[in-house]
Order: sequence, then C-alpha cells, then structure tokens
Amino acid sequence: MKTAVIIGGGNGMGLAVSLNLIGRGYRALILDRKEPEKGVLPENSYEYMYVNLLDLDEDFLSEIAAQEDLEVLMITAGIGRVAEFEYFTTAEIGSIMTINATSTIKILRIFYDRINSEKDFYTGVMGSISGLMSSPMAAVYAASKASVCRLIESVNIELEVSGRKNRILNVSPASFKGSKFYGGPNRLDLLADLAENITERIFAGETLYIPQYEEIFKAVLERYHTDPHEYGIHSYKYKKDSGRAADRSRMVTGYLAGCFEPFDIRSLDRIQKARENCDYLIVGVEAGEGTDGAERAASREQSRQIVAACKYVDRAAQACADDAKAWEKWHFGRLFVTADRMETGRSEHSEEFWADKGVEIVRIP
Ligand SMILES: NC(=O)c1ccc[n+]([C@@H]2O[C@H](COP(=O)([O-])OP(=O)(O)OC[C@H]3O[C@@H](n4cnc5c(N)ncnc54)[C@H](OP(=O)(O)O)[C@@H]3O)[C@@H](O)[C@H]2O)c1
Repeated sequence: MKTAVIIGGGNGMGLAVSLNLIGRGYRALILDRKEPEKGVLPENSYEYMYVNLLDLDEDFLSEIAAQEDLEVLMITAGIGRVAEFEYFTTAEIGSIMTINATSTIKILRIFYDRINSEKDFYTGVMGSISGLMSSPMAAVYAASKASVCRLIESVNIELEVSGRKNRILNVSPASFKGSKFYGGPNRLDLLADLAENITERIFAGETLYIPQYEEIFKAVLERYHTDPHEYGIHSYKYKKDSGRAADRSRMVTGYLAGCFEPFDIRSLDRIQKARENCDYLIVGVEAGEGTDGAERAASREQSRQIVAACKYVDRAAQACADDAKAWEKWHFGRLFVTADRMETGRSEHSEEFWADKGVEIVRIP
C-alpha cells in the first residue's frame, strides 16, 4: 500500500493532512512526540512512531526513507510563539531553531535520495509567511522559518537544473485556526479545506503555496518589499493588538539533582526519563563521597563534565545547596525527584512547597 510519512502528524495541520492523505488511499505513517488522540483517524489507517526533532534519530529516519512503498513526505512539526525577543531564553531559541530549521532541513536531506530521483515523490514542508518577511514579535520564529523557506527555494532550483520532476512544496500561511499552535484544541473541521489545498499542490508539484495569496498576501508582500521599515512597524502593532502575545514560554524546563558517580546505567535511565518529560533538562551534579564520608570536591568538576557529555542533558551545573536555591537560579517548571531522595522526607520534595511557584514534582525511579 502507498505510504505517506507525516512528521508532526500528531496534531493540528499534520493531523488534518494525515486524514486527507488517508482519504486519498494512503497509509499514514505519523511520526511525532505524541500519538494522535484515539478515534480522530480511522482505525487501521495509520501507524504511529515516536520521533523527537530535538533529538533526531537519523538512522531510524533513514530506514523510513528507504521504504519501497513511500511516496509522500510532509513535515509539519514546528513550534513558536508571539512575544518580544527579550522574553526568549537562549534555551528556547535553541529549541525553536533546532525543530523548525536544523532538524527539518536534516530530514529533507535524509529523504533527498527519494526527492532527487526519477521516480515520483511528493514533499511538503510547513514554512510560514513570517519566513518570507520580517516579523517583529516573532523574531526567532521568523528566523527559523526564513532558513527553511530559503533552503526549499534553493534546492528546488537544483532539482530543476538537474532535470528532476520532483519538487518540495513550501506551505507558508499566515496565522490559521484549528491547531494546537496557540494552545487550543485540534479542530479538524477548521483545518480540512487548507489540508486539501496543501495536498492538491503537493501532487501538482508546486513549489510555494501562500494561502489567500491573491486576496490578501500578494499586496502584503508588495507592501513589505516596497518599504520594509514601514511594514515592520505596522506588523509590530498588528501583532501587539492581536491578543496572541504569550510572554511566558510553553517550553518546560526540568531540573534533576543527584550524584552520578559512578555514571552507570541507573544514572543514564534517570537522566533519560527526566529528559523525556521536559523540553530542556538542567542537571545539578552533586559530588560523590570519599571513603571517609567527606565530599570528594576534586571529583565534582569531572563528574559535571561526564554528565554534561550525556546527550539528554542540556545543561550540567554544580548542584545548589537545595532545590529551592536551584529554582531561584533556573526557574524550572518541573522538578524530578528520585525515589532515594524522596525517602529523605525533605519539605522541598512535597507538592505544597512548590504550589505558589507553579513547579510540578515528577517522581522517577
Ligand atoms: N498555526 C498557525 O497559525 C501557523 C501559521 C503558519 C505556519 N504554521 C506552521 O505550521 C506547522 C503546523 O503547525 P500547527 O498549527 O498545526 O501546530 P500544532 O497543532 O502545534 O502542531 C505541531 C506539531 O508539531 C509537533 N512537534 C513540536 N515539536 C516537536 C518535536 N520536537 N518533535 C516532534 N514533533 C514536534 C507537535 O507535537 P507536540 O504536541 O508533542 O509538541 C505537534 O504535533 C508548524 O510548522 C507551524 O510553525 C502554523
């Protein structure tokens, strides 16, 4: 059976495109961090597999790309929010750029043998109108989408010059309703028409689809190109008044403190479990004890370096005196507490202690 891979197909536009492709007779292979809600897609019409664009499993994706019956690749995974640049931490900037730009571009490269081939292969990527012009109040998002828009534009020329028929469709809409992008529920009824227009254009081999181009965005882009500064000021005010600004990040920072000496399989399991439950993991490293029971201060930096080398750790630091001090420093939203630390009965490991700070405690083995 013909297969379509939808990366980010668990929600929003990816889910709507999956449903559309199923309707066109494809088996949908949905790759995302979370499975689509049960009952949304017809049973037995799709398969779900875990993929995280923050930790790209290139070997796994290469295996998918080599599947004989594969005909369609649609990448819809993406994150972003409307806020001024000052409200973005460097950690969030890293995640937005990795998901929207670096990993998306790597995925296109991993599937490129299929795209750059005589055999029909249909590819689409969700860019954004903000990748085609300046976007004050969404500067990082615009930067990430601009790189994907430019990549697709350039690669399509390479495909054309080498005489290939296949193209990559850049879908660059303005804000649309019905997805989880702004925190609401999935509404496939609101997304179905756009999904249909996207798949139609993928199969037609088009290279750029800007919904409502003739009606609205042709003039908007012209206005931007004529006077980018005037347009930028207008765009800033428009977003400010739109009610879409979200100064708080939806990214979850997690904190795990502990001693990881020796760094064994239990250490790895704990760190991996914590990383699966947050977007950015800070590990506070405590020093081990010498034979006399005293902290081996000399080992502390070595231990931190070993933990820092683990790919699931975004930041390894010396542990603070207690978790409350660590929160003052890093303002994490999720505190991981291992079973042995729980047994110490310290007040900072209770839900009540964190209630006013909005920190969630997650127990791990
Ligand atoms: N909505 C708009 O107004 C709008 C406008 C222009 C362009 N776009 C673009 O359209 C695309 C689809 O957006 P949407 O509105 O459908 O949003 P959505 O409902 O939030 O869907 C995005 C999907 O990407 C997944 N995703 C995020 N981070 C991931 C990661 N690290 N690894 C794997 N999957 C990940 C999400 O999974 P989780 O739920 O697990 O995070 C979610 O299933 C995005 O690229 C977005 O930038 C959206």
